[in-house]
Amino acid sequence: MKKSLQDLREVAVNAILSAPGAEELEALRIQYLGKKGALTKLLKMMGKLDPEERPAMGQLANQVRAEVENAIEKRRNELNEMMLKMRLEAETLDVTMPGKTAAVGHEHPMYIVLDEIKDIFIGMGFEILDGPEIEQSEYNFTKLNTDEGHPAREWSDTFYLTEDSSILLRTQTSPMQIRAMETKPLPIRMLAPGRVYRKDEVDATHSPMFHQIEGMVIDKGVTMADLKGTLDAVMKKLYGEDTVTRFRPHHFPFTEPSCEMDVQCHKCGGKGCPTCKGEGWIEILGAGMVHPKVLEGCGIDTSVYSGWAFGMGLERLAMRRFKISDLRLIFENDVRFLEQF
Ligand code: PHE
Repeated sequence: MKKSLQDLREVAVNAILSAPGAEELEALRIQYLGKKGALTKLLKMMGKLDPEERPAMGQLANQVRAEVENAIEKRRNELNEMMLKMRLEAETLDVTMPGKTAAVGHEHPMYIVLDEIKDIFIGMGFEILDGPEIEQSEYNFTKLNTDEGHPAREWSDTFYLTEDSSILLRTQTSPMQIRAMETKPLPIRMLAPGRVYRKDEVDATHSPMFHQIEGMVIDKGVTMADLKGTLDAVMKKLYGEDTVTRFRPHHFPFTEPSCEMDVQCHKCGGKGCPTCKGEGWIEILGAGMVHPKVLEGCGIDTSVYSGWAFGMGLERLAMRRFKISDLRLIFENDVRFLEQF
């Protein structure tokens, strides 16, 4: 019995002190000190001893138990310390290492220009509106005084979404004129930027998707002079005080009279150069007084109210502003190009 206890102590303490991890240590604890453990088994044999031997054996057994427990406690502390040390080593942070800079993007050049234009118009009391790119022909054409059979409605130019030509991808932002007049109280001062779609082949100046900015004012006593004055002031704010504009007569079904506005070429000052294709002027937008038929179609009393509207191409403004020569660069989103702005 004595020998068994002493052997057990030796084997157990050795095993415990070299346990490689917490799990193994717990297994050893159960193996030696558990209810069905080795020590318990030995203690059960105490009954078979001579009575005078028992106290000494009991004492030895208690001693062995205490030593095994101490060994477990000691190893547990060692293992905890080792774990902590390993963790600290794995998590060392070298504060002298250079940091990783996160690549921060920035606004697309076209949206930089759009924001500038919005700011200018908001400063003049305009409200920014947003509308659907999938539009009814009714709004894209009919209510804009563009009847069936008008060449602008050709299938060859327009992305129709239904066989009966009733739904399409809007070809212009002008349907926003109608949507504003039908829903907003008068007077109206609105700016509606957005995507438009036409069946154009992609080249340096064309894309089947591009952006327009529609603007419209409806109020009492609004005249063509307001249109000219406002758009001239906007161009001066956008391109500088020395910017020169001119208005040429034009035709749109939904404005009367209609005009196009040109800005004098910044490169040659109007003499003619490659940038303006020898014209001296660059076309910027279409505009006009909102046609009385369009106003009346929206329930507006033309004996009291009148208005003007314009539509300009955003890509063209951005290209001019940043001297970008090819429209495709704006949509390809090559970071080497975008990073320049
Ligand atoms: N929607 C016309 C276009 O796309 C531009 C325009 C807008 C003209 C408003 C007059 C008034 O060409």
